[in-house]
Amino acid sequence: MIRLFHFDRATQSGQAPSGEEGGREFPEHSARSPLSVHDLTVAYHRKPVVWDVDLELPEGKLVALVGPNGAGKSTLIKACQELVPKASGLVQVYGRPYRHQRHLVGYVPQRESVDWDFPVSAMDVVAMGGYHRLGWLRPVNKRCRSEAMQALERVGLADLAGRQISQLSGGQQQRTFLARALAQDARLYLMDEPFAAVDAATERVIVELLHELKARGRTCFVVHHDLATVTEYFDWVVLMNMRVVDAGPTKEVFHQENLRKTYGGKLTVLSAAAEAVRNAGE
Ligand SMILES: Nc1ncnc2c1ncn2[C@@H]1O[C@H](COP(=O)(O)OP(=O)(O)OP(=O)(O)O)[C@@H](O)[C@H]1O
Ligand SMILES: [Mg+2]
Repeated sequence: MIRLFHFDRATQSGQAPSGEEGGREFPEHSARSPLSVHDLTVAYHRKPVVWDVDLELPEGKLVALVGPNGAGKSTLIKACQELVPKASGLVQVYGRPYRHQRHLVGYVPQRESVDWDFPVSAMDVVAMGGYHRLGWLRPVNKRCRSEAMQALERVGLADLAGRQISQLSGGQQQRTFLARALAQDARLYLMDEPFAAVDAATERVIVELLHELKARGRTCFVVHHDLATVTEYFDWVVLMNMRVVDAGPTKEVFHQENLRKTYGGKLTVLSAAAEAVRNAGE
């Protein structure tokens, strides 16, 4: 199948056989949790990059996934959606394996994972977000296109609906994928660096969108690099560096010691974080 995202299936080993997790129960993981991850390990070429991750996200919160480059954040987000195979572990979306719940999940991939030369318009990308409701073999219908147009309007891109994605600016491309997630009307959103390389206006649009989704009871799990805005934007934080360092309400877990454990001795990052923590306390 031709895909808009790049996947990494061929590079792993030790994948659990398909369907293995279907019948297993993990009573400690609540069926109400939008995303629960149990003992998850993911390896590329037999080298683990996500190690023994346990997580249970609360419903209806904005959750940041924070950690240095190469910490395994994108890999975790992909493994949750079976875009890369797990070496071991279990992922559940609202208490059931992802493959039964994919219609509940909206994905905004990291910019680098998207094939921007793929010959589709912004409208096509957004309308494709609604495919799970139509089935892949059905043509995109009128309703789907009008919902897609609403989502494009919501992110200020209605005028560019017909433009090829390769001819959009970075911020416009980012907005296109947000519109796509919106059109999916999911319950859990997995967003990989939606704030990367956007200007202040686009950043505001994204923050408003996140608040709107939260007000509708949706859960957003968002990879975020700007430590200075974590306390302002997010209710919850997952700190990760291959392993989960800590996870919980921002006020409780976003502190110096945890940041030091997550980032090691990267002093510029830590001084930015110190500033952010200080500001949050004022
Ligand atoms: N397809 C792949 N094949 C082999 N190694 C990979 C592959 N994708 C990622 N990696 C490696 O796995 C590790 C985790 O990568 P990942 O992209 O998950 O990190 P990240 O936390 O998202 O980083 P960033 O903040 O830079 O986006 C890195 O060391 C990376 O080089
Ligand atoms: Mg990444």
